[in-house]
Amino acid sequence: MIVRNVLVTGGAGYIGSHACTELLQANYRVVVVDNLSNSKAESLSRVEQITGKPVQFYQADIRDKQALTDIFSREAISTVMHFAGLKAVGESCEQPLNYYHNNVYGTLVLVEAMRDADVKQLVFSSSATVYGESVHVQYTEDFPLGPINPYGRSKAMIEDILRDLSAADTISKVQNPWKIALLRYFNPIGAHESGLIGEDPNGIPNNLMPYVSQVAIGKLAQLSVFGDDYPTRDGTGIRDYIHVVDLVKGHIKAIAALQGERFNAGACRAYNLGAGRGCSVLEIIETFERVTGKKVNYKIAPRRVGDLAECFANPERAIMELDWKVEKNLDDMVSDAWNWQKKNPEGYV
Ligand code: NAD
Ligand code: WQD
Repeated sequence: MIVRNVLVTGGAGYIGSHACTELLQANYRVVVVDNLSNSKAESLSRVEQITGKPVQFYQADIRDKQALTDIFSREAISTVMHFAGLKAVGESCEQPLNYYHNNVYGTLVLVEAMRDADVKQLVFSSSATVYGESVHVQYTEDFPLGPINPYGRSKAMIEDILRDLSAADTISKVQNPWKIALLRYFNPIGAHESGLIGEDPNGIPNNLMPYVSQVAIGKLAQLSVFGDDYPTRDGTGIRDYIHVVDLVKGHIKAIAALQGERFNAGACRAYNLGAGRGCSVLEIIETFERVTGKKVNYKIAPRRVGDLAECFANPERAIMELDWKVEKNLDDMVSDAWNWQKKNPEGYV
C-alpha cells in the first residue's frame, strides 16, 4: 500500500490534533507545522500515544516561507490540511491586523509554497461564520456570504483567494490543477474518547462547551446564558453542535473526494460540516447535567453582541458528495468533553 504524506498546519491545536489521530489511524503519514501560539507540543505526544505511530513535527510559522519550502523539499507531501489560524471572534475585533496577517497572509504564503512544490490538494478549515444573516436558519452552501466580524471576513477572504486560484487553473487547463475542499464547520465540541486529547483554551473560554465544563469542574463559578428572549423554542440561542471526531472524519473523506471524478479537472468546492440539527443553550445544560450527573450553575444574562438566534447546517452536499455523515449524538459530545475535562483539569500541563 502506498503511504501518503499529509501536511497538517495547526496540527497541535484542538481540531488539528484530532485530525492527526484520524489520519494516522487511516494509515496516512502525518507531518505537522505549528508555531504553538495557541497549543502545546504535548498534544502531539498524546496523538502518538493513542495511535502508536509517530508524528513528524516542525515548530514553525506558516508565514515563514523558507521554513515551508524546506518542509516541502524534505517531505513528499501529497495533500495539505490547513487548520493554522487565529479563531477568537472578540479578539479579532480588537486586533484585526493580527487576524488578517495570520489567517489571510499566512494562507497566501502557504499556497505559494504549495504551488512552488507542485502540491495542489488542499483541505481548508472554513467556518459557518462566513455566511451572512439570513431569514433561513438552515444554511446551504449557496447562501450568500456576509461575515460580520474580522475573523469571519478573514475566512471569507481566504475562500475567495482559493476560488480564484482554482479558477485560474481551470481556465488555462493545467496538468496538475488545484483541488480544494472548503469545509465550513458549525460548532465543533467534544473530545477523543480516550480523554487524552481535547480542547484546551487559554484563559477564560469564549465558547459554550468548554465554559460549561469548567463551571462543572469548579474552575469557573457560573455560566452566563447569553439571552433567553430569542425567538427560539426556549428563548436561548440554537446552534449545530458536531462531535470533533465526526468533523475530522469529514476531512479524511474530503481527501478521498479530491482524488475522485468531481475534482478531476480541478475545483474549489465548499461543504457544510454540521449535524443538521440545532440545540439550544438550555438543552446543552440539561444534557450535560443528565449525562455527567454534575450541576451547572448558570444565570440568564443579556444577549452577546453579534450572536444570531438560530443557525444550523444543511449537510446534504457533504453526505452525498463526500460520503460522510455524523455518527455521534449530543450525549457522546457531552460525555467525551467531560471525560477530557476530568482527566485534564488544567489542560495540557
Ligand atoms: P486551535 O487554536 O486549537 O488550533 C489552531 C492551531 O494553529 C494552533 O495549534 C496554533 O498554535 C496554530 N497556529 C495559529 N497560527 C499559526 C501560524 N501562523 N503558523 C503556524 N501555526 C499557527 O483552533 P481549532 O479550534 O483547532 O481550529 C482549527 C481551525 O478551524 C482554525 O482555522 C479555525 O479558524 C477553524 N475553525 C474552528 C472552529 C471552532 O469552533 N473550533 C470553528 C470553525 C472553524
Ligand atoms: C454557542 C451558543 C451563545 C458562551 C463561535 C464562533 C464561530 C465558530 C464557533 C470558529 C450561543 C451561547 C456561549 C457562554 C452562552 N468558531 N453562549 N454563554 O458563537 O455559535 O460560534 O464558535 O469559526 O465563528 O462565532 O459558539 O460556543 O460561543 O456559542 O450562552 O458563555 O452559546 O450565545 O448561543 P458560536 P459559542
